[in-house]
Formats: sequence, structure tokens, C-alpha cells
Amino acid sequence: MAVDLTTVLAGVEFANPVFTASGCAAAGQELDTFTDVTTLGGVVTKSVMRLPRAGRPTPRMAETASGMLNSIGLQGPGIEAFLANDLPWLLERGARPVVSIAGSSVQEYTELAQALRDVDGVALIEVNISCPNVEDRGHVFACHPASAAAVVSAVRRNSRVPVFAKLSPDVTDIVGIAEAVLTAGANGLSLINTMLGLAIDPGSLRPVLGAVTGGLSGPAIKPVALRCVWQVHAAFPDVPIFGIGGVRTGTDALEFLLAGASAVQVGTALFGDPTALPRIMDELGTALDERGLTRPGEIVGRAHRSPLFVAPEGPDPLGDASLRAAG
Ligand code: SIN
Repeated sequence: MAVDLTTVLAGVEFANPVFTASGCAAAGQELDTFTDVTTLGGVVTKSVMRLPRAGRPTPRMAETASGMLNSIGLQGPGIEAFLANDLPWLLERGARPVVSIAGSSVQEYTELAQALRDVDGVALIEVNISCPNVEDRGHVFACHPASAAAVVSAVRRNSRVPVFAKLSPDVTDIVGIAEAVLTAGANGLSLINTMLGLAIDPGSLRPVLGAVTGGLSGPAIKPVALRCVWQVHAAFPDVPIFGIGGVRTGTDALEFLLAGASAVQVGTALFGDPTALPRIMDELGTALDERGLTRPGEIVGRAHRSPLFVAPEGPDPLGDASLRAAG
């Protein structure tokens, strides 16, 4: 195959555009027993907070139609244990870590960024301002442009590597939130986090999740994620975007690139198939090759430019004929 999957995000080069999504592979150790994590674009770690955290009450996961709800509640070991155990393992293994951080105040995000600032090997920081499973909805900073900007600005000022802000789809105007965090210094965006949802157990007559609500992920939210990537790419075509939401195949990844993402993150699919990532990478390479493309970057945002009209002599969705048809 003549395709080179190398992908550059905010000036940082990665071997390919397929990453884990935060929260779905912890810090990569368990996944590595199924998939060599050094072959991935990168490992986006479970969002780490300043202190150890137990998370929300159980049950914390529920299967839904074409998706999954989780209400984990940012369970984790805290930044000190993460820096002592998880990050060194990833670095010694030779993986590319994208460290996801979460906090309940601007000060907490600041301290997390400071703790990471002098650690060599962190490729990017992903600022999770959009976890739907916090007790106080006021802590979903991504729902308010000023709060989102305050967090991102603090992390940007205290980081040496590019900072990506992870946004929520549960807003009226995601482009407005994107504008706020980009103005505050974000170097890229991760679109999207899960959508707030609810499942009811008709047997117990109660919500399935201990926390009542949870974040919906998987194929059910792929059209929403594609729409968010599309809208934000249309407004900010030069901003690198991770597309996240229901990626299971190389074709799904291709669709996100066409909408304007430069790379994708895969999460829910790993629960059913922990070997999905290398397959998705291969399928994406084949999909690009079949369309006569040699690099993923050639197709980023292409759906915004491709004509709806297809020339009668053949499908040729990317070639000169269809471009001519567009005028
Ligand atoms: C969680 O830990 O509750 C999920 C994190 C997230 O969706 O950001």
C-alpha cells in the first residue's frame, strides 16, 4: 500500500491518526496485551485529577441501543500515582501519551498542568472540560464559554506541549465554545465527549445507573459527533481536531476525516473488540488507497469541498471529473 498514515497535530508528528479515547483503555497496560500500543497514533489516558477519586456509585455502565452509558465519575489514582506508575510505563514501552486532565476548578487544572510541565515525553495534553458525570453540572466547564476559556487559558500558560480542549455536544452552539477555547490558547480540539443520557430498568422501575444519568457513547452518537466536527471545521479550518464518537471501522474514521478531523479516537468499540485499533488503521489505509490518496491529510475536510453531483460516467468521488462538475 502506498499510503503513509503519518499525521501531524499542532506541530507534533504521530505515526498514524488512530488513537485510543480517554477512559476506554486506562493508561494502555491492559490494552497492550491485545494490541501493541506503540503502533497506535497515541494513547489518550484516562482523565487524571489532582487527588485519587473513587467515582460515582455502581452500577456505572449500561448497554443501550447502538451505544453505552457510563457514569464512572472520573475514578482514578490522582496525578502523583499517575506520574509514578502509569506515565513511566507508557514512556518506557515507547507509546505516545496524550495526557487527559480533569478538575473541578481552574486552580486544579493549573496544578495538573504544572505537575506535567517538566515531564518529557508527553505528546499533547487533552483538557477534559466536558465530563458529564460530575455531581455539579456547573463543573462541566465546556457548557459555558467563559468557564471553558478560563480553564484552557490556565492550562495553556502552564504547559510546554500543545493543548487540546475536549468539548461537550450538550450545548446549543459548539462553535461558540470552540471559539472561546481557541481564543484562550487551545492548539486543537477533541470532539466530542459523551452525551448526557439516561436508561430506565423496567424491572426495578428505577434508573439503571447508580448516578441516574451517564454519558452516551458508541455508534448512537456518531452522527452528532460528525456534525460537531463539521461545524467546527467549517468555522476554523486550520485547527486540528480529534474526531471522537462511534468509530468502529476504517470507514468511520474516513468519515471523520472528511468532516474535518485530522485524527480519530476510538473508545466504546474497544469494549467489544480490544483488537479493533490495528484493524481500523489498516482499513483506513485501504480506504485512502482505494481513493487514490497517499496521506490522511489529503482528505481532511474534503466533504466540505466535494460536490454533491457525481459525474454520470462513474463514481469518481474525489477525482478531477467530479471537481469539474462542481465548477
Ligand atoms: C467518567 O469518568 O465519568 C467519564 C469521563 C468523561 O466522560 O469525560
